[in-house]
Amino acid sequence: MQITIIDHPLVKHKLSLMREADSSTYKFRTLTKELARLMAYEASRDFPIETISIQGWEGNQIEGIQIKGKTVTVVPILRAGLGMLDGVLDLIPTAKISMVGLQRDEDTLEPVPFFEKLVKDIDERPALILDPMLATGGSMVATIDMMKKHGCKNIKALVLVATPEGVKAVNDAHPDVKIFTAALDSHLNEQGYIIPGLGDAGDKIFGTK
Ligand code: URA
Repeated sequence: MQITIIDHPLVKHKLSLMREADSSTYKFRTLTKELARLMAYEASRDFPIETISIQGWEGNQIEGIQIKGKTVTVVPILRAGLGMLDGVLDLIPTAKISMVGLQRDEDTLEPVPFFEKLVKDIDERPALILDPMLATGGSMVATIDMMKKHGCKNIKALVLVATPEGVKAVNDAHPDVKIFTAALDSHLNEQGYIIPGLGDAGDKIFGTK
């Protein structure tokens, strides 16, 4: 399975705070951002680097390091994915932002895009998809489909909480995509909520409930 469950005390502590029923909008939003930042750190661990020559403080040319190739594009899935965006940009401020919005077709129950604005050269950039909850995996698979249609080849998905069903759906459809999560939870309930999960992440980030 292409999944990395981030094993770090800060990640576990922050996620546990997010699971508390009385989490305020401010607290939930702040923790979403902080977790996204930590996850971006882990997900960027294998970014390729190259050596360059830089002028050091003495005036001599010395060896420096830079990330090789075009900067990553981050792809928040509307709307909850926006809650993770600033945390990732804190670490990768030069990232380009692509954005995807999906809604469920009430007849087919399939996710249908209502908004898509991808960077033009997405075929040349690594991509980090952001969505706090990997539930059924439907939106994630549809987003990856969309990105691959535009030639994107190097894709990672950053989610705060995943289900086995969601991971399987993404792995089956796109075995090349690596998923990074803070937790792999038990299951989905009949209403489609992750158990134990976080509740409705979008509502909690935006304060709409
Ligand atoms: N989306 C959410 O926000 N929460 C869930 O538990 C599942 C999907």
